[in-house]
Amino acid sequence: MIKKTNDGSETIYSQEFNQTYHSETGAIDESLHVFIKNGFNYFHQKEITIFEVGFGTGLNAFLTFIETEKQKIKVNYITVEKYPVEPKFISKLNYHTFFDEKYHKIFEQIHSVEWGRTVILSDFFSIKKEKADFLNYNFENKIDLVYFDAFSFDSQPEMWSADIFTKIFNAMNNNSALVTYSAKGIIKQNMRTADFQIKRLKGAGNKWHMIRAKKGRFS
Ligand SMILES: C[S@@+](CC[C@H](N)C(=O)[O-])C[C@H]1O[C@@H](n2cnc3c(N)ncnc32)[C@H](O)[C@@H]1O
Repeated sequence: MIKKTNDGSETIYSQEFNQTYHSETGAIDESLHVFIKNGFNYFHQKEITIFEVGFGTGLNAFLTFIETEKQKIKVNYITVEKYPVEPKFISKLNYHTFFDEKYHKIFEQIHSVEWGRTVILSDFFSIKKEKADFLNYNFENKIDLVYFDAFSFDSQPEMWSADIFTKIFNAMNNNSALVTYSAKGIIKQNMRTADFQIKRLKGAGNKWHMIRAKKGRFS
C-alpha cells in the first residue's frame, strides 16, 4: 500500500514487516539526510563503490544518481533485495516529480535494470541489482560506502547482528563508511564488536540520532 509522507513524497507500507519503507516524516527528506548528506557527501574521491542493503523502492539509488550528475563523481552502485517491490507499486511512486525533468526517466530506468547484471546508466553511474537474501550474500567487490537500509531492528534483528556487521566490515575498503537511520544501543554495540568506529549524528525528521560507522582512520 502506498502512503504519503509529511514532505509530500510517498512510501510503501509493508504488511509483512508492519512498517513503512521510509520515515513517515518524509521519505525523500530521510534518504537525503541519512544517505546523501551524511554518506555520499562525506566522500571526496572521484570514484566510489556503494553497497545498499535493501533496494526496495529504489529511492536511494535514484537520489545517488542525481548527485553523481551534480558532483561529477563516478559511482559503482551495488544493491541487494530479497523481496522486490511489485512494478504496479513502483509505477505509482511520485519521487521523480520532486526533481528536474531531465531525471524523470532515470527512476524507471533504474527499475528496468535486469537483476544480476551490471548496467551503465550514465558516464557517472553503473548499477548492479542482486535479487538475494543479504543474510547469505557473498561480496565480490570492495566497498567504500554502505547504505544500510534494512527494516528496523525490532522486526528484523538478524539483519543487524554483530556477525552481519563483521561480514560487511570485511568487505569494506580502508577509509570507508556505513550509514544507517537507526542509532539503537544494541546496533552500536554490534557494530563496535565488528570493529567499526561509531559516530552518532543528528537523525532525520523526528529521530534523535543516526549512525555513521567508519572503517579506518579518516575524520
Ligand atoms: C526499510 S526498506 C528500505 C528499502 C529501500 N532502501 C528504499 O529506499 O525503498 C528495507 C528493504 O530491505 C529488504 N529486505 C528485507 N530483508 C532482506 C534480506 N534478508 N535481504 C535483502 N533485502 C531484504 C526489504 O524487502 C525492503 O525492500
